[in-house]
Amino acid sequence: MLSLPLGDGAELRPLEPWQAAEFAAYVGRHIDHLGPWLPWSRAMTGEAEARAFLQPYADDTARDGRRMYSVWLDGELVGGTLFRVFDAPAGTCELGVWLAPEATGRGLVSRAVTAMIDWAVDVRGIRRVEWQCVPENAASRAVATRLGMTLEGTRRRAFEHDGRLWDVELWALLAEEWRARRTA
Ligand SMILES: CC(C)(COP(=O)(O)OP(=O)(O)OC[C@H]1O[C@@H](n2cnc3c(N)ncnc32)[C@H](O)[C@@H]1OP(=O)(O)O)[C@@H](O)C(=O)NCCC(=O)NCCS
Repeated sequence: MLSLPLGDGAELRPLEPWQAAEFAAYVGRHIDHLGPWLPWSRAMTGEAEARAFLQPYADDTARDGRRMYSVWLDGELVGGTLFRVFDAPAGTCELGVWLAPEATGRGLVSRAVTAMIDWAVDVRGIRRVEWQCVPENAASRAVATRLGMTLEGTRRRAFEHDGRLWDVELWALLAEEWRARRTA
């Protein structure tokens, strides 16, 4: 896949180590928006750090593991999505998403993630798609809800970030639920 059209001038493309400088600049521009919700973004202070983040994803993709993508709008990098976990033998994966503030409110990640779930379920036999977010992240919860995910539980005080402890919600969607939604 070199790029997948998402409509309205948007595209989903792979995000690879050769794009480290552009990715670091993107994260730096939007750190106030991303930093509170994405702990990894705080470490993305330059090209070397971005490369160190992206390279293991590329290595794992080559082993049929986790994968990272980018969202482009009118030729500009505006966001990303990933399979933070992709375990085809186990039939499970976990999604993650982010957008620049000016790219929100258009359904870009919902459309991107829909394409990713279609591929995971239809092509790769994934039977369970997971989503994790903190309860305070209303925009992320809204995406999970829009996708038809079920809130399965909350891991209390699961991790420390920006000087405080956060709970983490686990949302999930089963392959049969996804197929039923599409049919409906
Ligand atoms: C989480 C995040 C990516 C959600 O962005 P978003 O733009 O709200 O999500 P989507 O791309 O799915 O767009 C949904 C919005 O577009 C609207 N929309 C327009 N066309 C749409 C379409 N075709 N399909 C779905 N939604 C559409 C929806 O109504 C919704 O707007 P609303 O929230 O005003 O009701 C964004 O808030 C973000 O980057 N946050 C910071 C990083 C982050 O928290 N990541 C997640 C960590 S768990």
